[in-house]
Amino acid sequence: MATHANPMKPYLGKLAGIKDIATNHKLFQIELTEPEGQAAFGDYKPGQFVFFSAFGAGEAPFGITSTPARSPDVVEVAINDLGHVTHALHCLEEGDPVGLRGPLGNWFPMDEIKGKDVVILGAGIGGAPLRPVIHTILDNRADYGHTTILWAARAPDLLVFTDEFDDWGSAPNTEFHVTIDSKHPDWNGNVGLITNLLEQVNPPPGEDVITIACGPPIAIHFITLSLLKLGYTLDQMLTTLEARMHCGIGKCGRCNMGEKFICSDGPVFWQNEIAGFLESDV
Ligand SMILES: Cc1cc2nc3c(=O)[nH]c(=O)nc-3n(C[C@H](O)[C@H](O)[C@H](O)COP(=O)(O)OP(=O)(O)OC[C@H]3O[C@@H](n4cnc5c(N)ncnc54)[C@H](O)[C@@H]3O)c2cc1C
Ligand code: FES
Repeated sequence: MATHANPMKPYLGKLAGIKDIATNHKLFQIELTEPEGQAAFGDYKPGQFVFFSAFGAGEAPFGITSTPARSPDVVEVAINDLGHVTHALHCLEEGDPVGLRGPLGNWFPMDEIKGKDVVILGAGIGGAPLRPVIHTILDNRADYGHTTILWAARAPDLLVFTDEFDDWGSAPNTEFHVTIDSKHPDWNGNVGLITNLLEQVNPPPGEDVITIACGPPIAIHFITLSLLKLGYTLDQMLTTLEARMHCGIGKCGRCNMGEKFICSDGPVFWQNEIAGFLESDV
């Protein structure tokens, strides 16, 4: 694979598309314009992330939310407008030049979990890295067992990927449940935290079931506790971790957790690998 000799140098790209997907949340479709970049992003995996740069403003890490199978010409990321770099990215327009470093980090073991039932829990924009997991399962449906998708946001206007909910819920051997944190005049579905929904749906924790949860650390903490309560064990639970990052390639030490670097040993971890290091310790 042809890649830049300098892993800190972004590949050049342009914004092929920008879509509003929730209040203050946009989906960015990035087309790599250099052959090296196209080769580097030819076969990225669910769970990997990128450093996405708005020239003149800086770069920040984001989970990739597309698959090469569904989006062969673009790499997609979903971004909450939150601070300096994310706001600069939100101000860009289609056709504008951007930079992309990656694909970075490890990925969900989609081959290893073939044949198993899967419980997917996505909370807010933190659920973005789960979209490629869902697409991979739905596009290779016979390879995976029963799949339960639980999706949540604080309010209806913060739910991401709503235009795909019908596809997710109507796929064979798949169930889809969505909730928002508290009552809202525009919402007549489930109300309550994702942990309430999880305990209500109560997907049975057999030996051949794995769970994949992505979201803010506080949500992962309580999801982990609920899963334990339902009878799951830490070695059945996959999650992603976030940290303030600088290099993204295991060199600067900014994202360390004990002897591990979240950027290069993760961001995907089994819960039993990270027990003892986090506020989410159980
Ligand atoms: C591996 C990884 C994947 C990520 N995936 C996504 C994604 O798919 N979509 C998305 O919108 N965001 C994602 N993030 C978070 C994103 O990187 C931050 O929101 C971004 O760096 C903020 O940059 P900024 O310059 O806009 O904000 P700043 O101006 O630097 O900060 C604004 C606020 O955000 C807080 N903040 C900044 N970075 C983080 C962080 N990493 N964790 C928690 N709080 C932070 C700051 O403390 C401050 O309160 C991911 C982070 C990591 C490490
Ligand atoms: S961000 Fe530099 S080591 Fe992880």
